[in-house]
Amino acid sequence: MSLWYDFLKNDDKLIFKWMHYFPIYEKHFSEWKNKTLTFIEIGVLGGGSLQMWKRYFGPFATIIGVDINPECKQYEEDGVHIRIGDQSDPLFLQKIIEEFGQPDIVLDDGSHQMKHVRASFDFLYPNLTKNGVYMIEDMHTAYWEEFGGGKNNPETFINISKNYIDDLNADHSRGEIASNFITKHTFSINYYDSIVAFQRGDIKIKKAPRTGLFNLIERLNP
Ligand SMILES: C[S@@+](CC[C@H](N)C(=O)[O-])C[C@H]1O[C@@H](n2cnc3c(N)ncnc32)[C@H](O)[C@@H]1O
Repeated sequence: MSLWYDFLKNDDKLIFKWMHYFPIYEKHFSEWKNKTLTFIEIGVLGGGSLQMWKRYFGPFATIIGVDINPECKQYEEDGVHIRIGDQSDPLFLQKIIEEFGQPDIVLDDGSHQMKHVRASFDFLYPNLTKNGVYMIEDMHTAYWEEFGGGKNNPETFINISKNYIDDLNADHSRGEIASNFITKHTFSINYYDSIVAFQRGDIKIKKAPRTGLFNLIERLNP
């Protein structure tokens, strides 16, 4: 069953998602279905999205919800863990990792305040498993003042992440850009309407060999 259909037929707890996010979730999350998985969603609200992720990922998944509102604790159930704290507090996030291990997927649907989004990313992205996915949704808030946004504000996550595109390509910058964690441990950065998704991955060998008959002599006499 598709996630979209699951969402539509939900008649249990509240789920609050934009329609166009569903194909994006499927694109980045579907390979994790029915695998042993640690999934964190920042932002629990009515608890329905955690139930949806539990149904989607299947019986091997550990689903963890993080929220600052203590009332969200009531949505805990078998296979769904909820921890109460501030997404921008690295000590709180560290405790979650100590308890559940490194997450494979983090979905940030929390406060959407730029400072919080960045603090969570800075701590959790390096703590993902090596092929993990970090997805931040509702990034239209990066253009809204009340969330610390603004098109020309260098502190929005959209503007900060534009520098990550340069970091991703640092090895080809002829020394202009220093290689960093993003360079070494990121496979891709995907931008969508209101979503940024990072796929972790380490490229061990960066070479551009040529193949084909045209290069036969070169290949025989390297
Ligand atoms: C958009 S709602 C989450 C919606 C939910 N994921 C869903 O799909 O139905 C945002 C949630 O983030 C929580 N929140 C706000 N500030 C937070 C913070 N600093 N740390 C953790 N959670 C926060 C709010 O209490 C609220 O429940």
